[in-house]
Amino acid sequence: MGDEKGIYRARLSKELREEVWKFVSSLREDERMIEDDIDGTEAHEIMLHEQGILSLQELKAILSSLERAREDYRKGRLKAEGKFEDVHELLEARVIAEVGMETGGKLHTGRSRNDQVALDLRLRLRKELNLVSASILELAEVLLRKAEKHQKTPLILLTHTQHAQLGTLGHYLLAQVDLLLRDFDRMEDCYRRVNLCPLGGGAVGGSTFPLNRRRIASLLGFEGLVENSLDAVSSRDAVLEAAACMSLLMTHLSRMAEDLILWSTQEFGYVELSDEYSSTSSAMPQKKNPCTLELIRGKAGEVHGSLHSLLTLLKGLPSGYNRDLQQVKPPLWRCLDETRSCLEIMKGALETMKVKEEKMVSSSSLSWALAWDLAEGLVREAGLSFRQAHAVVGEAVREALSSGLTVKELSEELLERAAEKVLGRKVKMDRRVLRYLDPSFSLKRRRTLGSPSPREVRRMLRARKRELKRRKAMMDRRRKRVEEAEKNLEKKVKTYISS
Ligand code: ARG
Repeated sequence: MGDEKGIYRARLSKELREEVWKFVSSLREDERMIEDDIDGTEAHEIMLHEQGILSLQELKAILSSLERAREDYRKGRLKAEGKFEDVHELLEARVIAEVGMETGGKLHTGRSRNDQVALDLRLRLRKELNLVSASILELAEVLLRKAEKHQKTPLILLTHTQHAQLGTLGHYLLAQVDLLLRDFDRMEDCYRRVNLCPLGGGAVGGSTFPLNRRRIASLLGFEGLVENSLDAVSSRDAVLEAAACMSLLMTHLSRMAEDLILWSTQEFGYVELSDEYSSTSSAMPQKKNPCTLELIRGKAGEVHGSLHSLLTLLKGLPSGYNRDLQQVKPPLWRCLDETRSCLEIMKGALETMKVKEEKMVSSSSLSWALAWDLAEGLVREAGLSFRQAHAVVGEAVREALSSGLTVKELSEELLERAAEKVLGRKVKMDRRVLRYLDPSFSLKRRRTLGSPSPREVRRMLRARKRELKRRKAMMDRRRKRVEEAEKNLEKKVKTYISS
């Protein structure tokens, strides 16, 4: 079939050279949307019939042939190969070969590959975004479960990668949940713009046939139209926006991966990945490497690169369809595949990871990360201004470090000496100020909204569980709408075929 003259090539007297069709063909990357292409065509044909453009007989013949193509594809008898420029040509040529040029030749009435490919991309992206979004929620759920378990496990929070303030692992994990929920919301918002139907845009300026664009959109379960025909065929902002959402999500996964990589070092020793998520060294027998996490970090770079490919691809194009647009598919697929696999791996790595609480407790008990709380304690108990208290504690820390004392050995006398030195006067230090160096005492006293105090962590846990539930319901509705549209279309197609 593919060896005959291409179905679109009447204008030309010679066929494409072998190496040229290989160069121009998008068949391989189109394969991912082959069934979407069939769905879109079926909706188009039904609309053509309803508008009196195709007879019932013609519709039946075309739909049967398309369903045979679907069946053959699923059974591996139809492959995305042959001398076609794309999957659109492959399928149209196949229908024509099966049902004849008189009828099959009507399949493409009122349509162009330009609005067709724009449609296929949106049909596919809709489903794949649903998968990514569902994976985001699954990861958030694992994080929430872990946060619940580690509400009180102390964690030294860093700024400049230096000990900053004391927090808890639960609080850290909740921060990751919040980030993921925003990633979900961004994708939800993007989804609304993906979920619009461009078909009926024609090549770029619509058709003289009375096509019912809203009908196609509703047959395919879209929420609306990409109305303007020029916009419908030329724009890929929905694809780009999805890639941008994924890039941002990957940035977040990468940071989390980086935290866990650091925490897996012998120096930190806070966590240990399960063997199932670790690799070894071919040379150094002692090694246990967090390669899964490192690859999440690495793959984030690939997703960012794909976003950049898309931006560059689009920036110089004039309005209208341009063949360059064919190249949006490989980077888009790469974004989707890498993002989903990273979400899955991160979820498994976290679920199976061991948290070494003793190490986290012992590290924090030797840390000066409660110096902030101590300074606030001095304000409260010794009547100093914050700047004075900051200076006194700073001097005390300097003095303790230079005389080899640990934080546990800090005494009221040392604080009094420090106060005298920096303030030039005696300040009576109450025993009570030293309590601020006790992690559970200070964490309980953190009063601000969103802090790692046990009360706030409990409150946030409860709130995020509700938030997660609400988003899961949103997600279900989204998925069901697509599934229902597919089922209804399938039913309609079957009814026509057997009528
Ligand atoms: N394979 C093309 C793509 O993926 C389909 C549209 C081709 N349109 C055209 N006028 N050559 O973008």
